[in-house]
Amino acid sequence: MISVVILISGRGSNMASLLAAVDSGTLAVRIAAVLSNRPDAQGLATAAASGVPTRVVDHRQFVAREDFDAVLAAAIDTFAPDLVVLAGFMRILGDRFVRRYAGRLINIHPSLLPAFPGLHTHRRALDEGARIHGCTVHFVTPELDHGPVIVQAAVPVLDADDEATLAARVLAQEHQIYLLAVRWFAEGRLRLQGGRVALDAAQDGAGVLISPAVGAEAAARCLWP
Ligand code: GRF
Repeated sequence: MISVVILISGRGSNMASLLAAVDSGTLAVRIAAVLSNRPDAQGLATAAASGVPTRVVDHRQFVAREDFDAVLAAAIDTFAPDLVVLAGFMRILGDRFVRRYAGRLINIHPSLLPAFPGLHTHRRALDEGARIHGCTVHFVTPELDHGPVIVQAAVPVLDADDEATLAARVLAQEHQIYLLAVRWFAEGRLRLQGGRVALDAAQDGAGVLISPAVGAEAAARCLWP
């Protein structure tokens, strides 16, 4: 079973959904630890309540980004993870850190990349009049919110939407696709090869707005309500 370290900065709902999947037996990984750059991250209490070790590496105690990255990497490495999962981790990581975990560092971003990298993605999608929005899991590369795409889910933007309703619709899909990506990695079906994603996943859910599709049952769960 692979070992996973999750990095958070706040609420931790993506982390919580992965922990719940492990607890219910739908995800066969060991969550070795949850690390946060903020001591007040809500998700730390959730992780601790699940019996998962937590650590804080407070970025405010470092002047240089590289020093923060190095201490964070040292903290991660004490758990010897096979996979490092960024789940609402709000610090930009330097080249050196990203290279150290090349091919085993993934992120979730609340937009259909390459649209809307950076912050306030839901507000920007509304401001631009986008009719389709969504979320992306990708391997992390040194460029912020870029990197080979593993899986995406799309949702409609409704006329009545505001930032909160759109964010909630996207978040429900984030929880679905992050579980898929971590499961694929854990099962040895997902890797980074020559800078591209190599994925051995069934394609039999064609026609639904999640890609790669993963079979009728899983795909149905990933459709918006
Ligand atoms: C999510 O929308 C994630 O995509 C983004 O930050 C948010 C974190 O939410 N990077 P949570 O902490 O997982 O609840």
